[in-house]
Amino acid sequence: MSTNAVYSKRIAESAKVMDFAIIYENVLIGDNAIIGEHNVIGKVPTPTSAMCKVLDMKTLITTISPLCRLCSNVTVYSNVFIGENCLLGDNVSVFTDVKIGNNVILSRNVTVNSETIIGDNSRVMDGTHVTGRVKVGNNVFISTGVFMANDDTFGKEGFGSNTCGPIIEDYVSIGAGAILLPNIRIGMGSIVAAGSVVKKDVPDCTIVAGNPAKVIAPVPRMLDRQKN
Ligand SMILES: CC(C)(COP(=O)(O)OP(=O)(O)OC[C@H]1O[C@@H](n2cnc3c(N)ncnc32)[C@H](O)[C@@H]1OP(=O)(O)O)[C@@H](O)C(=O)NCCC(=O)NCCS
Repeated sequence: MSTNAVYSKRIAESAKVMDFAIIYENVLIGDNAIIGEHNVIGKVPTPTSAMCKVLDMKTLITTISPLCRLCSNVTVYSNVFIGENCLLGDNVSVFTDVKIGNNVILSRNVTVNSETIIGDNSRVMDGTHVTGRVKVGNNVFISTGVFMANDDTFGKEGFGSNTCGPIIEDYVSIGAGAILLPNIRIGMGSIVAAGSVVKKDVPDCTIVAGNPAKVIAPVPRMLDRQKN
């Protein structure tokens, strides 16, 4: 994922900004991007001491790369990089310190927390929560209503070095309503069945299902998206 595009103007002339969008000074918007109605782009977080994480309050650059389409009511905080040709559906919220690759889809009502990376060509479907410190690889499919967690102490130790969300390798598919618990790795090309609760690492090219999720089979050839 390249983050070094050169911008001669803060908002490219060919970009479209729809009514009631707020774009802060720290934002770069690339050619032919569309910023939808009521978007808020480049927002600096407004924390209180009640929060676990101590936030860096510096105003850092947020980049919306060329050809991105941001639908209505999208909020993108400061220090976010969104690659080319991404689609962010209505009500998506991307918190601070996040990197998103090229050709990524975040469907309606997806929320992404801080220090998370989402790779190229990955898709996250409606109503899913991608928690903080998650790594999503390239060509990953995450279905609707998936929840992720990054802290087994429920915030008692703050947002420290033990806070770590799932690592989801390339070509993984996550079924609807799955729950992915902290500190796990889901191996390349694997499938998590709908409604599963994943507590342990999943090997490469394996289907897991149930609560707690257990291996049910290797990924059959027809479902192996790496070979398509
Ligand atoms: C994982 C999945 C692809 C497996 O499909 P499949 O290969 O046809 O599997 P089968 O239906 O033959 O089931 C194999 C075994 O796994 C179990 N199983 C399958 N899915 C399960 C699930 N979601 N939770 C618990 N167990 C499950 C079956 O009960 C069966 O167990 P048994 O052998 O004891 O009878 C499918 O069940 C699934 O969860 N798909 C997700 C769909 C989805 O969310 N898509 C998102 C895009 S909209």
